[in-house]
Amino acid sequence: MSKIACIDLAEKGKLKLEWAERHMPVLMQIRKRFKKEKPLSGKKIACCLHVTKETGALVRTLAEGGAKVFVTASNPLSTQDDVAAALVKNGIEVFAWRGNHEKYYWCIDQVLNAGPHILMDDGADLITRVHTKRKELASNIIGGTEETTTGVTRFKVMEKDNKLLFPVIAVNDAYTKYLFDNRYGTGQSTIDGILRATNVLIAGKTFVVAGYGWCSRGIAMRARGMGANVIVTEVDPLRALEAVMDGFRVMPMSEAAKYGDIFVTATGDKDVIRGEHFKAMKNNVILANAGHFNVEISIKDLEGMAKSKKTIRENVEEYTLGDGKRLYLLAEGRLVNLACAEGHPSEVMDMSFANQALCTEYLVKNGMHMQAKVYRVPGEIDNKVAKLKLKSMGISIDKLTEEQKRYLNEWKEGT
Ligand code: ADE
Repeated sequence: MSKIACIDLAEKGKLKLEWAERHMPVLMQIRKRFKKEKPLSGKKIACCLHVTKETGALVRTLAEGGAKVFVTASNPLSTQDDVAAALVKNGIEVFAWRGNHEKYYWCIDQVLNAGPHILMDDGADLITRVHTKRKELASNIIGGTEETTTGVTRFKVMEKDNKLLFPVIAVNDAYTKYLFDNRYGTGQSTIDGILRATNVLIAGKTFVVAGYGWCSRGIAMRARGMGANVIVTEVDPLRALEAVMDGFRVMPMSEAAKYGDIFVTATGDKDVIRGEHFKAMKNNVILANAGHFNVEISIKDLEGMAKSKKTIRENVEEYTLGDGKRLYLLAEGRLVNLACAEGHPSEVMDMSFANQALCTEYLVKNGMHMQAKVYRVPGEIDNKVAKLKLKSMGISIDKLTEEQKRYLNEWKEGT
């Protein structure tokens, strides 16, 4: 029995799914094969993902492959209620609605109650739940997949601590995932979220990006493209150096706090912007987070320093500090791209979710021989997704000649 906001939204959701699927040619090709071969036949899959139109396209593909799919949300604010309704009409069990802060883990428990064989995670909450509160389910689980950098980082810690109970494939670490989804997807959708929430002019603003991983690189790149003056903050010397040579100003947050008009965090760590930084900020600053959890901007500090707060626009909370300065926090400090916009565009999710579908098939075929470790996406899957994507875009590339292959496989030919 599903639990969603309103089944009457299904017609609207169905159109959204149709739109997404028209822009996800690689996933649709996989779906066509899944429909014929039924590689997931008899398997129960529990998904903890952002319930968007692109996720809808993925879970319908898994269902065509013969799986029984159970869906819960990976964030309280990212569920598209119309899509959730359309999926329920499609026979998928969904436990998700936008604004579900209170029953977030109850929903996770509902999909786990199905006794899944495969877990598909975005941010590690689902798989972590099995390892903390639902250990009895582990023996039935073939393996899991993880969509995000944050989740993969956690599973690597679990592996190091010898705590992992089954194999997890780090879908995030596929080249056809992070080079595109994290960079171009987060880059565009974060700007989209800020614009939909605030409609401020980006040109001429000082835009501070915390972090210079693949997501934050994309944000910095797109903010610059909109005419912002971009500052990057980092803790890693290599990444900081790369940001410098990419032409960004780099400085500590304590310094950047004085200059920024818009701040976006995407580091995967907590308290990246905190009391000391709020204190140094100018009036009318906008604060947003594009990292997985709502821990990067210290809301505790902000609440502690605020004299008053009010919702000034949908998804925009105005905090007035003791000195009269106003700071604007978007989407409670949760993923701005999913809470204020629609998440990454379908075209990049096409590759991420093609990897998810193919890794699920891989786990069903090979999971019983795999160890309780974090695995990279097999190279064949990554290459296949790249090839199919290029083909869908009508782009062909060169092939090595026999002579070129031979040259690459020898070491004597020199100057
Ligand atoms: N993560 C980021 N964007 C997303 C989207 N559109 N659908 C599902 N997960 C996402």
